[in-house]
Amino acid sequence: MDGRASAVFYRSPDDEYPLFVRAQGCRLWDEAGCELVDLTSGVSGAAIIGQGRPDIAQAMAEQVRRLSYMHTAAGTTLPQERLARRLADLAPEGVDRVMFSSGGSEANEIALRIARQYHLARGEPERWKVVSLAPGYHGATAGALSMTGRWDINRSYEPYLFRGVRKVTAPITYRGPYRGLAEEEAAQRAAEALDAAIEGEGPHTVSVFIAEPIALSTGMAVPPDGYWRLVREVCDRHGVLFVCDEVITGMWRTGRFLALDHADVTADITTLAKGLGGGYAPLGAVLIRGSVADAIRAESRRMAEVHTYSGSAQSCAVGLAVLDAIEAEGLAGQSEKKGALLADLLAERIAGLPWVGEVRGRGLCQGFELAADRAARTSFPPSSEVARSLTDAMRQRGFLSRTMHHGSALVGDAATLTPALTIETDDLDEGVAAMRASILDLGPVWEAQSER
Ligand SMILES: Cc1ncc(COP(=O)(O)O)c(C=O)c1O
Repeated sequence: MDGRASAVFYRSPDDEYPLFVRAQGCRLWDEAGCELVDLTSGVSGAAIIGQGRPDIAQAMAEQVRRLSYMHTAAGTTLPQERLARRLADLAPEGVDRVMFSSGGSEANEIALRIARQYHLARGEPERWKVVSLAPGYHGATAGALSMTGRWDINRSYEPYLFRGVRKVTAPITYRGPYRGLAEEEAAQRAAEALDAAIEGEGPHTVSVFIAEPIALSTGMAVPPDGYWRLVREVCDRHGVLFVCDEVITGMWRTGRFLALDHADVTADITTLAKGLGGGYAPLGAVLIRGSVADAIRAESRRMAEVHTYSGSAQSCAVGLAVLDAIEAEGLAGQSEKKGALLADLLAERIAGLPWVGEVRGRGLCQGFELAADRAARTSFPPSSEVARSLTDAMRQRGFLSRTMHHGSALVGDAATLTPALTIETDDLDEGVAAMRASILDLGPVWEAQSER
């Protein structure tokens, strides 16, 4: 840099952003040469196979040399065709059509529109409303933000948000209406709440229910066993399409290709992004049940919205190379093993700490909630700066981690761990040890600050 103040308008203009200059595998270096081990896959969860890989660079370069660009409105490309086929083969039976996007928000917008086209094709034009979970996150574009159940994010934009999005309390058993319930009862009650919301809106007006299998915005709370099966039944009963947002959880992050595969439930529309491009290229995908696509096709309806970089040959070539790497290196199996190890490490070293409320997650999608009072399950006040101080302490110990202050009635300060499928087990071990040491150092400070 030339010594002048940055011209970048940062997301949080008052924050200082470290300047990263290099990355290899799960290690990053800043301009001062300071090394960080990444426990987050680039914070967003995208860099699932590590950084700086020659195989991905080569695939990208080869594609750019051969054919760098063609708008998908006018033609198709080999990478787009091949990646669609690979994803359809990986998806549950009956899900055999794929539309690409440049990321997760866009994929969720497309899902919303595909659902609308489906209902129009079936002669049900009155179906347009959406039911989603709160907390939950579906992206930052207007439609995705409207479906997002995070008031701290979408409050400022309320005048622009879509009407007709009904939020239902996420099936969390740590706090809120399902607090402390046994799995079966929690699943039942949460599904009844979904049913009641659809009934309340008028079932014939509801287009989709959209949900994440495990959400960062819930601090990785895992919905109770049986919940997704009941969701499927409720949606089927009302003719509502079930859209599963696997933008974070897909691509074997939980040990299976899709997190919903653990529940043996198939969504009508599934969205993927992040790990699909591995942090190397902007890429998202919408996986569509054949019956939904066929209904739209039978009426010759067309999706008007394509974006300039939807299904870009270069991004799809990267997606194919990411899948090749996952297959060649057995990363699906590794994800399962490392996920189990991470869960054990957190259970052993973090769960019992006095300032930790609950450890939760699945596979390499883990999190824990920090609590001012474990018994009462109360969270720290924002003035304790728990999230910021824990992230800083981890960085001082050489780890890139993510802790967010959610500040809602259901989630307070939650740390989330989304390491790459390629992370070394020693890095997990040392990362959790650093987390424990950081919490032990900071816990008394948080306590003192919250008593003020
Ligand atoms: C579950 C989920 N859905 C959608 C999105 C939006 O994806 P993108 O940022 O690629 O638009 C995100 C991003 O964090 C996400 O976590």
